[in-house]
Amino acid sequence: MLEGKNVNLRVMEKEDLPLLAEWFNRPEVSGEYTPLRQMSKTEAEKMLESPNERKPFIIEKKDGNKIGFITHFCVLHIAGRQLEIGYSLVPNERGKGYCSEAVKIMVDYLFLSKDTGRIQAQTDPRNIASQKVLEKVGFKKEGTLRRNFFMRGEWRDAYIYSILREEWKEPKILTRTA
Ligand SMILES: CC(C)(COP(=O)(O)OP(=O)(O)OC[C@H]1O[C@@H](n2cnc3c(N)ncnc32)[C@H](O)[C@@H]1OP(=O)(O)O)[C@@H](O)C(=O)NCCC(=O)NCCS
Repeated sequence: MLEGKNVNLRVMEKEDLPLLAEWFNRPEVSGEYTPLRQMSKTEAEKMLESPNERKPFIIEKKDGNKIGFITHFCVLHIAGRQLEIGYSLVPNERGKGYCSEAVKIMVDYLFLSKDTGRIQAQTDPRNIASQKVLEKVGFKKEGTLRRNFFMRGEWRDAYIYSILREEWKEPKILTRTA
């Protein structure tokens, strides 16, 4: 468990998979700026078991209420390995600062536990909420990946953001793990 002030991040377990599949399959949870997709419980299980797939964490409020997820995964490159993150919150818990806190915890965790120089994230240029989250945590916009996602019937650009280890410097929120 990675503990923050208002939310905790908990490694996803098998018993969380039906909820994860339900979230993936409800378009209002994915929002209009992430790919429309459907996931079976078997596919969700595969994701949990494969080390090269996404590593998902449940975002929980302090009362244990599950409000979303945040994942990290490797982007392979011939000259190295980069870490990328992605996240989603259920609609009625947005706009309360929970996602910014979850990203802050994840950045602390990744820089403390992985030998990586940067963490990156991609977002649709129209996804202002996601860009605000990244900027609040200290990510910097590097540029536009043109026609990078096929989403909802069209090719869309993506903004790419990153935070470097030297910009992070030290843990901001992750003071305790349980
Ligand atoms: C992106 C997302 C995770 C943000 O979660 P959140 O908990 O609302 O984020 P926070 O409350 O920490 O911060 C959001 C900020 O964006 C602002 N915001 C939200 N919607 C906005 C909009 N349409 N225009 C301008 N600002 C907006 C909020 O006011 C807040 O800013 P503030 O802290 O200065 O007040 C959430 O909107 C979501 O789950 N969206 C669907 C999935 C998704 O798009 N995931 C990201 C893919 S890259």
